[in-house]
Amino acid sequence: MYLTKEEERILNGEFGEGTQKAIELLVAIGDAYDAEKMIPISRAHAASSGQEGDLYFVELLANGGARCKVPTSTNPVYDIEYFDRLFEIPKDEGEVARRVMEAYKRVGAILSWSCVPYMAENIPLYGETVAFSESSATPYVNSVIGAGTNREAAQSALAAGVIGKTPKYGLHIKHNRKGTVLVKAEAALKDEFDYTLLGYYVGKRIGYGIPVLTGISRRPNTEELINFCAMSNTSGAISMFYIPGFTVEASTVEEAFQGDTPRDKITVTDHELKQTYEELQTTSGKIDFVMLGCPHYTLRQIEEVARLLNGKKIHNDVSFWICTSATAKILAERIGIVDIIDKAGGHVVVDTCIDEPCWVAYRDKVGMTDSPKCAYYRRFKEAIVARLRDCVEAAIEGKWG
Ligand code: F3S
Repeated sequence: MYLTKEEERILNGEFGEGTQKAIELLVAIGDAYDAEKMIPISRAHAASSGQEGDLYFVELLANGGARCKVPTSTNPVYDIEYFDRLFEIPKDEGEVARRVMEAYKRVGAILSWSCVPYMAENIPLYGETVAFSESSATPYVNSVIGAGTNREAAQSALAAGVIGKTPKYGLHIKHNRKGTVLVKAEAALKDEFDYTLLGYYVGKRIGYGIPVLTGISRRPNTEELINFCAMSNTSGAISMFYIPGFTVEASTVEEAFQGDTPRDKITVTDHELKQTYEELQTTSGKIDFVMLGCPHYTLRQIEEVARLLNGKKIHNDVSFWICTSATAKILAERIGIVDIIDKAGGHVVVDTCIDEPCWVAYRDKVGMTDSPKCAYYRRFKEAIVARLRDCVEAAIEGKWG
């Protein structure tokens, strides 16, 4: 890969060991993908976590004096003191999370600790070149916003944020942004959960590719798109998709395929969605917890939970959690909906995610969630996936089915 004089100097360590390590990673990726050169980015999102895999690289950069050159937001970790009071976090786990959070602060990242940064803390504009990791974030900024990012890892996104550049390959090249699979969506897509099921099915069916969806007659809302992104990029590797007419980059199917023929065509009817739903019903009976907010719930979704819980009481044997961003929680508190959820016995918690060691107490427990991604991480004995209103009902009853 061609390097400018300045990039060569960074690679030689003239600006410190932290930036040297960051550019070494970018050059290795660029070489692996035959990138011709580096291109500037305007922002990044690092899918940080409070775990060992993340710690090594962020400390390597922080200890070497690296600082983010462009706004770089961070994914959920967890509030160690809060969870330690509740569940007694193993000391070594807590220490890893503390060091991760401290190292991201030292590199000058935006400490958003949210997996939907494109909603508030770090929003690209149409046409921006960025480096965003995280399952919903990558396809959302490519497809819904029309910025350009590859499917980054926490490390490559952080390195790009530090250097302010990324190798030019993959989805930074127009030709690679063309659709590959035609998806005829014939199912009645009524709500957010249907988009969850659609995303999960499409990702599983296609694996790696760029679906172009047709047959969708109503403009999907923000939360439906977030769910489609997160689930299709969990059950598969979908970094980008098109819904011509509703997503921004192509207004027709032909444009989305850039004149090429799809490599495959699939049809999704109510039958496929029903089958997907049934596969996710792994057990029934008594439940121990409900976990919502994977991806982090938006203000509107928290409002919906408050509406469903208003005046009701969650069963004494069930813990009820909503994960969200600090930004959404502040607004939810302001308009009084956190109060309603508190009174019903639920918890709105910020900065964390289901895939963190802070949930150690639920390892042998059975729960419910509206997110297949949440169930996918297998941090619990069982996590049944169902519609939000069913999760709330089960939380009140103490059982499902
Ligand atoms: Fe977000 Fe964690 Fe789920 S990062 S999408 S809450 S697994």
